[in-house]
Amino acid sequence: MISLRKRSLSRVFLIAACAFVVRWLTVSSPKSAADAQAHEIKEHNFIERARKDKSLNVQRHRFLQARMGRDEGDELMGDIIRNGATDYWERFQLPYILNKDTSSMDTQHVVGAIDQLLSLNGWVAALCPTLTRPFGQHKHDNAYDDLVREDHLYYVAIVIHSADHFLVDQLAVIVQMAKRLGTNNLFVSMLDYDSSDSTETLTDLCEAVLTLLGVPFRIRRVAGMTEDPAAAYYPLEEAHMRNLALEPLHELYKKRGIRFQRVIWLKGFTCPNDILETIKISFANEASMVCGMDWAEHNGFFIFSDRWRTRDIDGDQFRQSKSSSKAEAVPPRDRLGASRYAQHLPFQVFCCEAGTHVVDPEQSYYKGIAYRAGSDFHNLSRAEAVPTRDPDAPCLDSSQAWFCRDLWVRSARDAMDEVDQVNDHNKHNPLARRAAAPPPDVQVAPRDGILPGQAAGDGLRRQPNAAAAVDADANAGSDYDAMPEEEDGLSEESLPEPIHLSIPNSNFRPARILVNPRCPTTYAGVSHTQLALDLFGTGEGDSLQAGVGKYILEDWDGAPESFVCQEQRQTGGRKATKTQRRLGFSIHDELQR
Ligand SMILES: *[C@@H]1O[C@H](CO)[C@@H](O)[C@H](O)[C@H]1NC(C)=O
Repeated sequence: MISLRKRSLSRVFLIAACAFVVRWLTVSSPKSAADAQAHEIKEHNFIERARKDKSLNVQRHRFLQARMGRDEGDELMGDIIRNGATDYWERFQLPYILNKDTSSMDTQHVVGAIDQLLSLNGWVAALCPTLTRPFGQHKHDNAYDDLVREDHLYYVAIVIHSADHFLVDQLAVIVQMAKRLGTNNLFVSMLDYDSSDSTETLTDLCEAVLTLLGVPFRIRRVAGMTEDPAAAYYPLEEAHMRNLALEPLHELYKKRGIRFQRVIWLKGFTCPNDILETIKISFANEASMVCGMDWAEHNGFFIFSDRWRTRDIDGDQFRQSKSSSKAEAVPPRDRLGASRYAQHLPFQVFCCEAGTHVVDPEQSYYKGIAYRAGSDFHNLSRAEAVPTRDPDAPCLDSSQAWFCRDLWVRSARDAMDEVDQVNDHNKHNPLARRAAAPPPDVQVAPRDGILPGQAAGDGLRRQPNAAAAVDADANAGSDYDAMPEEEDGLSEESLPEPIHLSIPNSNFRPARILVNPRCPTTYAGVSHTQLALDLFGTGEGDSLQAGVGKYILEDWDGAPESFVCQEQRQTGGRKATKTQRRLGFSIHDELQR
């Protein structure tokens, strides 16, 4: 591991050296008023309008590679370094560059540097093909050819908040994806939120590498929402960062009519093939969101680590399980989810984020869903009384949890709108009128053969509900496995009785949110080989007959009628105290709001 890191570091420096010279040659133009606007996506001009150019061609459109908010402030000895570099350039480089052929940075160098990058020799990502995966996924080099042939557009979003240790490997993954999917099929949006580590330098490196490769990007640095990080409200910050990272997505659509098929949120480190597979699962299921699973090292074990945002399809919190846990103690608590997890198959959840995740913008961002957070939190920096909140006041949880609920409600609303449209159409069409059954009292949204009151998987799901009463660990913000509760910053509150809704959530079209357990996301220093063995064994036992079933979920459940709401009721940054309660969730009520 150590030697790997060292090697990858020296490689970084080599590439950085190449890249900076390239930057010098290409982007060292004097600042002007026009420059300040250079990052903006331009609308089609007169000539383009006729052809409706929707390509992400960086050679033709300079604004597709933009850097915003670069910290140009004076650094310690900054002018000495700058003078030295300029001197070197002017005395030893420039005089010898008489034309293209005598430039030290000729095409050959650039091509060589890119080759170095693409081979990923020495990066953590280089280890990926050696890791075991179920269904022999890594053994087939052409497993994603069909995906590549579709020529879809992908939007890669990264939020960096003082987490420079991921960035180099994430860059490697992006480069690898660009190689597979085509450099003009990606747009990379990086948001550096007030980082205080070496993120600044590494985003310079990303800029240079993406420029070299001709991948469109916007790299942007923004200041924190509050001057004192302790006065921040983390869910609000989360929402703010993500919406900023999505700004180019909306701009590209509004100004140039470019629509992306999938948005990939890169978090931690995920192997490129696992991302491609998650994308494949996303398309095969028309899923609104597919997440990986996030594993952190803890006392020599790997534990599932995103319990703040992930809820199974019964609304319960995932267990903090070890990667080697037995069948009865795997992360998802619901029976169907646990059984599919054990077979390494994608399973439905109420909400997830866990590591790298893939979102369908057509079902979310392009419909106006943005990230948000609760607002009636207690600001500890102000001498105010603690606000009193109703027992059923909205949950003050993560912005991702809000996003998931928005997806469920949106899916239900869309289905109802479609029913209305059909009814409208039938009203004006006397022949069809008799055939159309009158809508039942409850507005019902049938989809894919899921009938009212018969949400698929219902039988399976109700049984474990009864069993849950016996499972003392359920919903208790558990210390089931390794970590003591304090690490969650969690204090316990009583959980009210289960709630019975007058109009069940199973009457509405479900949101398609899945977890792909074959897509582990990890952090620096994790022993990837051991984790892969824990999770998937040797991978040989899996029958290849799983066929198309390994991608598709046949039966979709309705939303749970209540969920474990883990909330942050006060300011205090990321680590602020969290409390927990069980809260009802009625899609019918949400639709009335
Ligand atoms: C909390 O209050 C302080 C002091 O008025 C303010 O600076 C800060 O922005 C507030 N925090 C949030 C998240 O609104």
